[in-house]
Amino acid sequence: MSGRLSLLIVSLATAIGGLAATTVPTDSKAYFDFETVQLTDKSLSLLDSNTAALFRFYNQTDTSANPTNGRACKVFPGDASWPSNRTWETLNKVLGKNALIKTIPLAAPCYDAWDYNSTQCASLTANWTNSYLHMTDPTSMMSPVYQGLTCQVTTDPTQSCTLGGYPSYAINVSTVSQVQLGINFARNSNLRLVVKNTGHDFSGKSGGAGALSIWTHNLKDVKYFSNYSAKGTEYTGPAFKSGVGVQAFEIYKEAYNRGLVVVGGEGQTVGVMGGYIQGGGHSPLSCLHGLAADQVLSAEVVTPDGRFVTADFTQNTDLFWAIRGGGGSTFGVVTSITVKAYPDMPVTASTFSFAVGGNNGSITSENFWSGVRNYLDYFPSLSSQGIYAYWFILSTASGPMFLMQPFWAPGKTLDETNALLAPWFAQLTDLNITFTPKTVHYDSFYPGWLASFPLEAVEKTHVATGSRLFPKQNWESPESLNATFEAIKTSSEAGLTIIAFIIDPSLKNGGYPDNAANPAWRNTYAHVLQSINWAQGASAAVQLQARQNFTFGFMQRWRDVSPGAGSYLGESDILEPDFQQSFYGTSYERLLKIKKQLDPMDVFFAQTAVGSEFWKVVTANGLPSGDGKLCRV
Ligand SMILES: Cc1cc2nc3c(=O)[nH]c(=O)nc-3n(C[C@H](O)[C@H](O)[C@H](O)COP(=O)(O)OP(=O)(O)OC[C@H]3O[C@@H](n4cnc5c(N)ncnc54)[C@H](O)[C@@H]3O)c2cc1C
Ligand SMILES: *[C@@H]1O[C@H](CO)[C@@H](O)[C@H](O)[C@H]1NC(C)=O
Ligand SMILES: *[C@@H]1O[C@H](CO)[C@@H](O)[C@H](O)[C@H]1NC(C)=O
Ligand SMILES: *[C@@H]1O[C@H](CO)[C@@H](O)[C@H](O)[C@H]1NC(C)=O
Ligand SMILES: *[C@@H]1O[C@H](CO)[C@@H](O)[C@H](O)[C@H]1NC(C)=O
Ligand SMILES: *[C@@H]1O[C@H](CO)[C@@H](O)[C@H](O)[C@H]1NC(C)=O
Ligand SMILES: *[C@@H]1O[C@H](CO)[C@@H](O)[C@H](O)[C@H]1NC(C)=O
Ligand SMILES: *[C@@H]1O[C@H](CO)[C@@H](O)[C@H](O)[C@H]1NC(C)=O
Ligand SMILES: *[C@@H]1O[C@H](CO)[C@@H](O)[C@H](O)[C@H]1NC(C)=O
Ligand SMILES: *[C@@H]1O[C@H](CO)[C@@H](O)[C@H](O)[C@H]1NC(C)=O
Ligand SMILES: *[C@@H]1O[C@H](CO)[C@@H](O)[C@H](O)[C@H]1NC(C)=O
Repeated sequence: MSGRLSLLIVSLATAIGGLAATTVPTDSKAYFDFETVQLTDKSLSLLDSNTAALFRFYNQTDTSANPTNGRACKVFPGDASWPSNRTWETLNKVLGKNALIKTIPLAAPCYDAWDYNSTQCASLTANWTNSYLHMTDPTSMMSPVYQGLTCQVTTDPTQSCTLGGYPSYAINVSTVSQVQLGINFARNSNLRLVVKNTGHDFSGKSGGAGALSIWTHNLKDVKYFSNYSAKGTEYTGPAFKSGVGVQAFEIYKEAYNRGLVVVGGEGQTVGVMGGYIQGGGHSPLSCLHGLAADQVLSAEVVTPDGRFVTADFTQNTDLFWAIRGGGGSTFGVVTSITVKAYPDMPVTASTFSFAVGGNNGSITSENFWSGVRNYLDYFPSLSSQGIYAYWFILSTASGPMFLMQPFWAPGKTLDETNALLAPWFAQLTDLNITFTPKTVHYDSFYPGWLASFPLEAVEKTHVATGSRLFPKQNWESPESLNATFEAIKTSSEAGLTIIAFIIDPSLKNGGYPDNAANPAWRNTYAHVLQSINWAQGASAAVQLQARQNFTFGFMQRWRDVSPGAGSYLGESDILEPDFQQSFYGTSYERLLKIKKQLDPMDVFFAQTAVGSEFWKVVTANGLPSGDGKLCRV
């Protein structure tokens, strides 16, 4: 690079923010500061033409500007057209703030081949199942199976550690211009592009081998509006505009400080404004207010052409519809979302468990399952009362254990909560199943939520998970409810783990459910997950066999008792057959049309995302993961 050129680039990097910034609109609910720093045609024109070409916007009518359209595969490290080291350095300079990160696997300090450090390795190992560790890393994912397990923590530093399904580079985003530059660079260079917010996705969708990653975790701004007036709706009232990096534990606290609540996940560290809300995620408040996606009033998005737009009820309405439930990493990168807020409320939470062999052997298997079967009868009435119950059937050495953690009763007193549980508890007592529930009342949502939903362990290495939204019809007759129960029991008795929720997000109070969230959410009383384990380090052949058994055995049994129903894409089987129907239902056709309009070059791809059927990741061992080249089918 000539001295003059690099000087120009450096001055541009410093100028972005000055020259590249648009004027802040006077409208008080407009951009965050980081959103006023934008890439524009004008800022591009300040670059020399070779550099500008790397970052130009998409222009549909100028085919010479889209030379990579139609290539069979995305460029991969080692390919002749992989950007040179110098080009990556140029990207870093134009981004500014040294925002480009060359990927180092999180577990690298455990390996001689990287930078072995026993102190750091020990600390990583101690924290490896803690989501707080992985969410602050630019590329780590919490479902490492889909990274390819090429660099986990180890006690043997001589083993190999490779990038596997981790992206090659990540942009540590702190301005909208950096998102635009990253998208334009990836599109113009035919690179695989991924988006990482926290890395919670069950299918590792925040990663991908040879990719450039847009890392949105540090977009933490929150702005409160006491009386927001949403364009194109009748809503006036409290709202929060929130950077997409804001997580459940943060937005709940902000709302609590104002005497409010927002609809977010139960999981402490979930990226509420990222993949969660875009994927139609569920909430401890869903039985009162619907899905979090139903609460969105406006969003700021960088679209696949590199442009920065506002999507709401009056502008970019297709995009607005699609990003409210139609999935992350598909239609663009969302930088912030404005959601409505509700008055805070007291809650009561109850935790209890019982297991076969418990009570000194007096809980028989037969009585245990009768007790679980009785429980299912109450889902319609409980969900209509606002109850969201987080329940498990775990395999223990002595047999299955039922765990309620918690039975969550928003707006209910202790007495009301006990009354709701009393009919089922009476049946359990008759079955010789006795236990002492821990039931606590809280004056506010936030302290109750903090105390009642324990931090979930992540980073499971030998497990596959799938889920089903069992439809309301299954509660219409004892026969169909028995069939549902038997399908769940069969999985449990075969050693699978059941993790489930009582939920009915159709009972909404003021939300906007005309969005792309899976229609199956509006016709369910239960979101039920199951997971199969295999021996740690099992061969690819064994894993494939276990997956085959899972997807076409255990999961098929669940589909057979719920024909036409769906599954929540944020907590789903990466190999779900007919995923278009399961994850998107009748919305799929419209979503695919919007995808083709907004992203004709398929800049965005994620496993099971809208339009992903036209691409595949080719892995060396045949296992499903992001560890391989991304090619057209
Ligand atoms: C421990 C744990 C607890 C969970 N709890 C809940 C829960 O209570 N309720 C629930 O419904 N789900 C829950 N989930 C599932 C979780 O909500 C989904 O996996 C969700 O997709 C996570 O979004 P994220 O942004 O946090 O994660 P990521 O893995 O970073 O992102 C998920 C997907 O969204 C895309 N994405 C992220 N940010 C953006 C953006 N700014 N623009 C465009 N695309 C983006 C990513 O590319 C990826 O495809 C939980 C998962 C775990 C592991
Ligand atoms: C797109 O390309 C066409 C043809 O080269 C050109 O006339 C037009 O001005 C371009 N549009 C933009 C927005 O750059
Ligand atoms: C360019 O190469 C040097 C030397 O190998 C390396 O240290 C640096 O990280 C590389 N830069 C990028 C952006 O890849
Ligand atoms: C190992 O890491 C610790 C903690 O980060 C640091 O204090 C120490 O200097 C490192 N040791 C070596 C040999 O680099
Ligand atoms: C990691 O583990 C160590 C030891 O258990 C602990 O002191 C430290 O606070 C943990 N760090 C994080 C980031 O969780
Ligand atoms: C990412 O950028 C933020 C500033 O926005 C900075 O505080 C942080 O240290 C950076 N993280 C990494 C891993 O580079
Ligand atoms: C909120 O704004 C609306 C319309 O702008 C107005 O009618 C209403 O009185 C306001 N509410 C409060 C509590 O200020
Ligand atoms: C089990 O039996 C022991 C000894 O008889 C008794 O002390 C204990 O209370 C019993 N536990 C339960 C749960 O019944
Ligand atoms: C409960 O235990 C008592 C005493 O052991 C026994 O008589 C009764 O049959 C049991 N009830 C059931 C439903 O198993
Ligand atoms: C449902 O199953 C229960 C046993 O769990 C049984 O008593 C009942 O008769 C079954 N009902 C129907 C309609 O099959
Ligand atoms: C798959 O299922 C078959 C038939 O039930 C069983 O024999 C086999 O052990 C299972 N394999 C794995 C890896 O789970």
